[in-house]
This record gives sequence, structure tokens and C-alpha cells, in this order.
Amino acid sequence: MSLQNIILLPDTRLRQVSEPVGMVDDSVRKLMDDMLETMYDAPGIGLAAIQIAVAKRIVVCDVSPRASEEEAEGNVPAEREPIFLVNPEVTWVSDEKSVYEEGCLSIPEFYAEVERPARVKVGFLNRAGERQEIEADGLLATCLQHEIDHLNGVLFIDHISRLKRERVIKKFEKEARRRGD
Ligand code: NI
Repeated sequence: MSLQNIILLPDTRLRQVSEPVGMVDDSVRKLMDDMLETMYDAPGIGLAAIQIAVAKRIVVCDVSPRASEEEAEGNVPAEREPIFLVNPEVTWVSDEKSVYEEGCLSIPEFYAEVERPARVKVGFLNRAGERQEIEADGLLATCLQHEIDHLNGVLFIDHISRLKRERVIKKFEKEARRRGD
């Protein structure tokens, strides 16, 4: 397993629509393992393949409360509960909404409240390539919607006010110039 570089706003690849995966084979599983380690290391609770510059419809997430915190402190988390999703699709959303303060590993240190459906059903292929469906609520529901957005080139800042969005994009453009990207 190896840590991968996470691409940052305003990298235009983040706006790409990712391609469906044809078959869940060892190369896909290796990619998911790399994504998971990169996510834990960051630390974060979700990562889409495009965030490591791979335009495939693959998401990993782990919203178990301790995983990312423990990892940040250099400890092995007591319990990891990773979910691997290939070709995930939202198949149902609740009318009820919920608001979470979201962040994104590609937009570090920026957080904003986003309203989304409170519950969702998501169909996907698991690590073994089997079709599954999960029903999620709470933080997992938000995380899944955020990550599936990434596969369609959508970022959480697209769900906030235009003024705030333009401000954060400008800030990251400035930082990219300073880094010489
Ligand atoms: Ni994100």
C-alpha cells in the first residue's frame, strides 16, 4: 500500500466526470487500499478516486468516530469500519433534509454548512464485485453524497452561496500560484 498525493482546488481534474469501473479486480482493490490509507493519513472520512487523480467511479469512506482521530495521533485505530464503493449510485433520497458542516481533503481547512437529504440509499459494487445496497443516515449519508458528487465533478462548495464559493476559489487559486502549480 502506498500513500498518494491528494489534488487540491483549483485543479481542473476535480471537475472531471469519472468513468465507471468495468470489473472489480486486484488493480481496483489495490487502488482502494491506497485510497483508504491516504484518507486515514490525511486524516479524513471519505475519499473519491479523482482526488488522487484517478478518474474512476470509486469511493472509500469510514465514518466510525475514532478512526481518523486515532490515526492523526499516530495510533492504530481501535476499530476501522471502511466501506469500499465501486460505481456507487444514489437510488433513493429522503424528503427530510439535514445540515452538516462539511470539509474536503481537496479544499483543506475550509468548512461550510451544507443541506442534503438526511437519508439515502446507495447501490454499488463491493470489494468482491458483488452488487449491494446500503441505506444510510447521519454522517454516513452526508459523506456518501459528498463523495458521489466528486465522481460527477461536483464539490461541496457548489452547494454553498456563490459569494462564499468565489471567495474560497480565489483563495485557493492564490495559494496554487504561490506554490507554483
Ligand atoms: Ni471531498
